[in-house]
Amino acid sequence: MGAIIKSIQAREILDSRGNPTVAVEIALDNGVRGWESVPSGASTGTHEAIELRDKDPKRFGGKGVLKAVKNVNTIIAPALKGKDVTTQRELDEIMCELDGTENKGNLGANAICGVSLALARTAAKSCGLHLYEYLSKTESYTLPVPMINIINGGIHTLMQGPDFQEYMIVPHGAKNIKEAMRWASETYHALKKLLKDKGLSISVADEGGFVPTINSNKEPINLIINAIEKAGYIPGEHISIALDIAASCFFIKGKYLLRIEHEELAAEEMIDYYINLIDNYPIILIEDGLSEDDWDGWKRLNEKLGQEIELVGDDLFVTNVKRIKQGIDEDVANSVLIKINQIGTVTETIAAITLAKQNKWGFVVSHRSGETVSSFISDFSVAMGGGKLKTGAPCRGERVEKYNQLIRIEEEQKGKSVYAGKDAFVR
Ligand code: PGA
Ligand code: ZN
Repeated sequence: MGAIIKSIQAREILDSRGNPTVAVEIALDNGVRGWESVPSGASTGTHEAIELRDKDPKRFGGKGVLKAVKNVNTIIAPALKGKDVTTQRELDEIMCELDGTENKGNLGANAICGVSLALARTAAKSCGLHLYEYLSKTESYTLPVPMINIINGGIHTLMQGPDFQEYMIVPHGAKNIKEAMRWASETYHALKKLLKDKGLSISVADEGGFVPTINSNKEPINLIINAIEKAGYIPGEHISIALDIAASCFFIKGKYLLRIEHEELAAEEMIDYYINLIDNYPIILIEDGLSEDDWDGWKRLNEKLGQEIELVGDDLFVTNVKRIKQGIDEDVANSVLIKINQIGTVTETIAAITLAKQNKWGFVVSHRSGETVSSFISDFSVAMGGGKLKTGAPCRGERVEKYNQLIRIEEEQKGKSVYAGKDAFVR
């Protein structure tokens, strides 16, 4: 049921932070049109594929993406025009070959990613299928447990909050997505009231989470536990906690610098810090507990905690098969974060997930801190069946659109889908 690509057109649009990003529109010879847009990180791993920025100080402080847009319109579009839109793998490969580098530094991962996403979106439309159905045909879909970031820190708050980047609630005890999102929203609002009553700030950061001024990185966990209970739920049974430490951002000269706590810790001491946290709180998952090149530290972290909780590598693996393979060989984690724009194409992202699955690792599909209203990753997470999606707070349009898409998919499936629940987490 293929259809021929008639045109591919890129343009510069704004993301949720007000920074420029790439949008791509594809038209087919059967009249179908589809479009997609590319997210953008702030606490990016140094090993991620290259996001091409113009570096013209006169436009958007150097963040313009006109070069990437031009690369789509003048190099990628002519090469893909006339091809069958449903041959995703072949088309992604053509783009990688056109670029010719390991890190997509020539054309830009943002240029390639925009086209790759738009190809899948348009092909699904052309086939008359929902995106998740186009990406994977199965009798019963698994709906992911949402990992909902309600307190923000680190770079996403320009260092105005805690050192740890994301404090997430994980409503794994709910019976379906609809209930999970209601629990999350109620907890979010209970937290807002709690913060207000304590005279703490209720303004929100890039991903919609609150940014309280506190003097310990543990304090947000206490606040969240309190909010879960105030909302009427049992911590650990109904709702657990997940953390994205984003430790690469405060790894300085071989030490982990906890600014809030005036501490400089070695990897071993950070691991002890986590052991203490896990002993005291219902924490089910820790992402980027150590820095992106601290392989020895990660190995010890996995030895000590890998049997108890899910240990996810984000900056460590950057959705890159080579780095995930090294991680599996060296036994440094048990799960990988999946961000399509970290590697650049849908095909390479699926390869990363396949590798994780083959090795019985977990994986978490993720948004970026700079987003658009695209809900591509919602469908993608359902199609991949990993049972986990993190996409920010239950607040701000670009975040809730992705959760709302899960609600739509659940309804479309008319009781045939299953909610992943606690079993989705590696332990
Ligand atoms: P980023 O943050 O999109 O700014 O990289 C998200 C994350 O670290 O998971
Ligand atoms: Zn992360």
